[in-house]
Amino acid sequence: MPLDIKKIVEENTGANNALYADHVNPRFAKALKIIGFDKNYVTASGAYMWDSKGRKYLDMLAGYGAFNMGRNHPDIRQVMKDFMDADFCSLVQMETPILCGLVAQQLKQRCGYGLDKVYFCSTGAEGNETAIKFVRRATGRDKLVFASSAFHGLTSGALALNGGEVFREKFGELLGTDKVPFGDLDALEEVLAKRDVAAFFVEPIQGKGVNIPPDGYLAGAGRLCRKYGTLFVVDEVQTGIGRTGKFLAIQHEDGVEPDLVILSKSLSGGYVPVCAVLMKDSVFNKVFSSLDRAVVHSSTFGKSNFAMAAALAAMNVLDEEDLCSNATAMGDLLGERLSALVPKYEFMKDVRWRGLMLAVEFGKPKSLKLRTAWATVNGLNEDLFCQAVTIPLLQDHAILTQVAGNRMTTIKLIPPLTINEADVDWFVSGFDQVMADLHKFPGPAWESLTRIAKNALTRPDEKAKATA
Ligand SMILES: Cc1ncc(COP(=O)(O)O)c(C=O)c1O
Repeated sequence: MPLDIKKIVEENTGANNALYADHVNPRFAKALKIIGFDKNYVTASGAYMWDSKGRKYLDMLAGYGAFNMGRNHPDIRQVMKDFMDADFCSLVQMETPILCGLVAQQLKQRCGYGLDKVYFCSTGAEGNETAIKFVRRATGRDKLVFASSAFHGLTSGALALNGGEVFREKFGELLGTDKVPFGDLDALEEVLAKRDVAAFFVEPIQGKGVNIPPDGYLAGAGRLCRKYGTLFVVDEVQTGIGRTGKFLAIQHEDGVEPDLVILSKSLSGGYVPVCAVLMKDSVFNKVFSSLDRAVVHSSTFGKSNFAMAAALAAMNVLDEEDLCSNATAMGDLLGERLSALVPKYEFMKDVRWRGLMLAVEFGKPKSLKLRTAWATVNGLNEDLFCQAVTIPLLQDHAILTQVAGNRMTTIKLIPPLTINEADVDWFVSGFDQVMADLHKFPGPAWESLTRIAKNALTRPDEKAKATA
């Protein structure tokens, strides 16, 4: 008899946080509990999730951008079911899977840029690892360059391209890399001019902080790379598949010429891990250079027909529902409505967006009373002001959001591309209320924040010291 998974979930409802704390990651379980994010979500559809008590939430996080088509999209699910019911073959390994070729063909058409071949793997980090190997092989150079605040994944190679010290430190020696300020072509040229750099890795819009580069930066970076024999790798893991209103974010700018493009997250509509690394033949032919090197790089689940079926289904939904246009329209509506709040609230510094990738940045207020509040929370923890926004958004308005990165005063919004005007209303009215409450100092919003801060700041090692 097959396992009754629904029954298992029902029977354990409410035990999720304790189970996770006992067996997976007690620190993360505790952190979620402290900020009241230890919910028990049981169902989801589109941009919404419901907890075990039946409360409906607006998901402005979309699984870190894995659900551009919305959660549990019925058309993608139908394809998955049909695929399973057909007892289709997958992972034969000694074969050339049909769906793999079809997805690659379609990706090349959608991306353009003369990208000739597609390597498939499973995650964004694995895509970056692949690119690291390939650019080194293709150029015969070792050094890699990345931008400040970059995020390309957390495996060892990708970690060497990470702009955040908090991720890099204490994991030993990493690959040899150079960091340049994001958006600064002069600094990039200075590093590339040594002609020892295999590749420059960049996100067209950085996920950490939602940093949008100046116009012409991406085309200029590509030009510099070509000038100095460096390959230009564009990581579209988060920005791709319609997120910014076009299939790729680099398609917003003329004259960009990538040598490799990495896609993942929403490529399968969030159903199956999948990553595609598109590259020029000049790169491919150096890596897979002969018959005996035909599988010199591969991974077991990379070409799974299950993932490929999901990818075909997800891209079909992207077209049928015209989600790129919706991302542009809803992104502009949300961005403009949030921008209109900036003059009203001293804590709001900037709202920036492209399609449905948005940031709300906070900063030091003008009035003395609020400056005291700002200095107090920032003195305790640099992320704390953002938590003062994300916590009531979830608790009082049932909206899931995230801080845009460690030690940042920015929150990030990356909802499914299916959101509508009512969802924009839901978000803006909730956010407006949260801002209004935070502009009353002293007041209840600040008291609960201080309580949370005190709890969170008692670190386990400090506790251990105190009890030793
Ligand atoms: C731009 C970018 N690259 C790479 C990654 C890593 O992807 P994964 O978590 O699937 O390894 C992420 C994840 O957020 C990302 O945003």
